[in-house]
Amino acid sequence: MKNNYKVLLLENIHPTAKANLESDGHEVTLLSYAPDAQELITLLKDYDAVGIRSKTKMTKEVIQESKHLLSIGCFCIGTNQVDLEAANAVGIPVFNAPHSNTRSVAELVISEVIALSRQVGDKSMKAHKGVWDKSAVGANEIRGKNLGIIGYGHIGSQVSILAEAMGLNVHYYDITKRLPLGNATQCSTLEELMGLSDYVTLHVPGTPQTKNMITKKELSWMKKGSYLINASRGNVVVIDDLVNALKEGIVAGCAVDVFPEEPASNNDKFSSPLQGLANVILTPHIGGSTEEAQFNIGGEVSESLNKFLRLGITVGAVNFPEVEAFAKDNSSRLINVHRNEPGVLGKINNIISESGVNIAGQYLSTDETIGYLIVDVNSDQVDELRDKIKELERSIKTRIVY
Ligand code: NAI
Repeated sequence: MKNNYKVLLLENIHPTAKANLESDGHEVTLLSYAPDAQELITLLKDYDAVGIRSKTKMTKEVIQESKHLLSIGCFCIGTNQVDLEAANAVGIPVFNAPHSNTRSVAELVISEVIALSRQVGDKSMKAHKGVWDKSAVGANEIRGKNLGIIGYGHIGSQVSILAEAMGLNVHYYDITKRLPLGNATQCSTLEELMGLSDYVTLHVPGTPQTKNMITKKELSWMKKGSYLINASRGNVVVIDDLVNALKEGIVAGCAVDVFPEEPASNNDKFSSPLQGLANVILTPHIGGSTEEAQFNIGGEVSESLNKFLRLGITVGAVNFPEVEAFAKDNSSRLINVHRNEPGVLGKINNIISESGVNIAGQYLSTDETIGYLIVDVNSDQVDELRDKIKELERSIKTRIVY
């Protein structure tokens, strides 16, 4: 038996998401805007799942009025617009697409390595103003130079591959031991990495440890005349210290895409102490902003929604215990979300064993508040089982997946 679901997509999510979900049999409505709370609550009554971007606020109130929802897909990177705890408490997994724009960021960084080495930003600005500043002074090829990557995760390692293809020697520093790609080598300290690099590029996540990670001290380890690139998080670098390092000539230029304070919208003004300095490229947090990334996000999140709706798989959910269990032939699948308190599993298994049904597979994962259980059974009594498990006092959500 294949259940088809009704999915509401908001905020003009990339059409690839609608196409994917429809090709899998779901009924999809795509709206262009972010409804306010009241309209959202009314709309959601007719749907089983919702896809949003950053403007739709899935507050506690909206979630509690929409407990019937099976899942929420955030077609973006961040999930701040969703009350994740409230969704967890009513058994709604939330999915996002944290790595769909990896390549976009890596490509911007590579372009900046060259642009800084050739002072492309300043030369272009001058040319626009009618100044012909043709000179080879301070302009270098990147071939054979050292690139230092801080944070060798999804983006850092992608930068590594592209950089080697252009003849850079790649070194990286990461708090975790990471397998090097190509000929890259891992440095054991940040000081070592900064000291040998002609270009340092930051790709760490925003954590308490990475806040103000690059200060006057770390900048002083850099080679005189080297370059810094930050497309990670705005508060990883202490901007005033970077300004001083630029003025003192320790750093010959920098490219910054993320800032400690960023305008909330394109209508707000942007200001930074880095404005007006030589060989400083400033971009408005566009590292991941490409049409390809939007397409990838549409594909990634619709696939996560579909895997959950069709199979109960929660891998990649940001607020939910993760279970990956592929479909079994000749069985039915039940899923149950319950409050994580002692004895629940025993009660569910009693119901199953009393009915004489054979369990073909059982998968449980828990977090502090909820347990998520997938049960595969060889039986045609699955409706009856669902009804009994649903009635348990600690059950939050129970559904036959197929
Ligand atoms: P990731 O989680 O795949 O990789 C991060 C790496 O940093 C991991 O290998 C981790 O072990 C390492 N790391 C963590 N703490 C560290 C520390 N204190 N010192 C050294 N290494 C440390 O993350 P991903 O996807 O590569 O993203 C990296 C950054 O890029 C994030 O801050 C993210 O917010 C940012 N980003 C920026 C975008 C833009 O538009 N500019 C778009 C997408 C992501």
